[in-house]
Amino acid sequence: MVKATGQWTVDACDALTGPHFSDHPDYLFRPYLGPAHLNAVEQVSAWMSEAGMTTRIDGAGNLIGRYGDGVKTLLIGSHIDSVRDGGNYDGPLGVMLGVAVCAALHAAERTLPFAIEVYAFGDEEGSRFPAPMLCSRAVAGALTLGALEVADAQGVGLAQALELNGLAMSRFLDARRDPADLLGYVEAHIEQGPVLEAEGLALGVVTAIAAQIRYAARVTGVAGHAGTNAMALRKDALAGTAEMILAIERIAGAGASDLVGTVGRINAGPGAPNVVPGEVSFTIDLRAGTTAVLHPAEAAVVEALKTIADRRGLTLHLDKTHELSPSPCDEGLRAKLSLAVAAAGVVPRDIVSGAGHDAMVFSPLTPSAMLFIRCKDGISHNPLESVEPADADLALKALLHLIDQLEAAYD
Ligand code: GLV
Ligand code: MN
Ligand code: MN
Repeated sequence: MVKATGQWTVDACDALTGPHFSDHPDYLFRPYLGPAHLNAVEQVSAWMSEAGMTTRIDGAGNLIGRYGDGVKTLLIGSHIDSVRDGGNYDGPLGVMLGVAVCAALHAAERTLPFAIEVYAFGDEEGSRFPAPMLCSRAVAGALTLGALEVADAQGVGLAQALELNGLAMSRFLDARRDPADLLGYVEAHIEQGPVLEAEGLALGVVTAIAAQIRYAARVTGVAGHAGTNAMALRKDALAGTAEMILAIERIAGAGASDLVGTVGRINAGPGAPNVVPGEVSFTIDLRAGTTAVLHPAEAAVVEALKTIADRRGLTLHLDKTHELSPSPCDEGLRAKLSLAVAAAGVVPRDIVSGAGHDAMVFSPLTPSAMLFIRCKDGISHNPLESVEPADADLALKALLHLIDQLEAAYD
């Protein structure tokens, strides 16, 4: 039963776990368009209906719940996909808070001069296809059909995955929204870092979201017998990759404090104890608050990797799979959100997001703002993710206050 409380939002996120809502038996993994994603869509859709919303699924597979009516629409969104072995709240908490907002309005029989649409985006993490935020980018009109020619690690193309879910590639871009119809975009999300907790604050107001770049890298050497290939004569793709990973760590570590670099996935082949690895693929994720920091770091990483490959006689192939500019949140909406946070009894604290969010892609389209919620020990992308229901309750109060302000200012 949907309740307009922080406790319900946390309980609902916790309910979206277990075998039915995960594609892995031992941990939470809910990639876009997998069986668990479909089950989550069904469950969240039922909650949206209970909260007085009408529901639909758009061409990109996003679930949308609409409350009320009006010429303009306020979007409240976040994602329901997860990283591999992720936590319960990264994404779903923002969706549940949107549902709880509508449940509160519904219970009070409130009619607003604008509609609210809660988006449960299908893909933000890029944990299935090598292209994060496919679904929100489709809504923001920031995609071309060419960008959709991606396949997952099993070789299943996006077109095929869509078809298996009753969707069609030809309709994907129909998810686009006309900015003229929008009042703004608001996203609530766990902080995923330790700042709010360290300062004893339940909520934070995001000022901007860091820029990010991802690469798929492939290193090719020569596979061979582990016993007969003298060390000096080998072209070991894995040893070369190890050196590359350390170079990325060194470059990111020597840069500005907001510069970060991560190799989060690596596959080495052929994968036998007695075979020198001949081929390795790995991902590179680079982020910084400004492109002035990020771009030189990217150039340094590319240069370093090429130098290592050349020296070791390896072939390096780099494919840039993703790039998003830093995105500032809208000053006007942010000011209203700060007032709303204060009204909820929390000192408004500005904070920059190092993590990427669907809100990034909406900034060029419509006024966008983000509310952060404190999480335990700053842990995220980890099953230990934890949020206090009382903090979620304050977030709900702040969102409702923001809606009151938007209603008062509406003309
Ligand atoms: C999403 O969680 C990201 O920042 O990669
Ligand atoms: Mn995430
Ligand atoms: Mn997230």
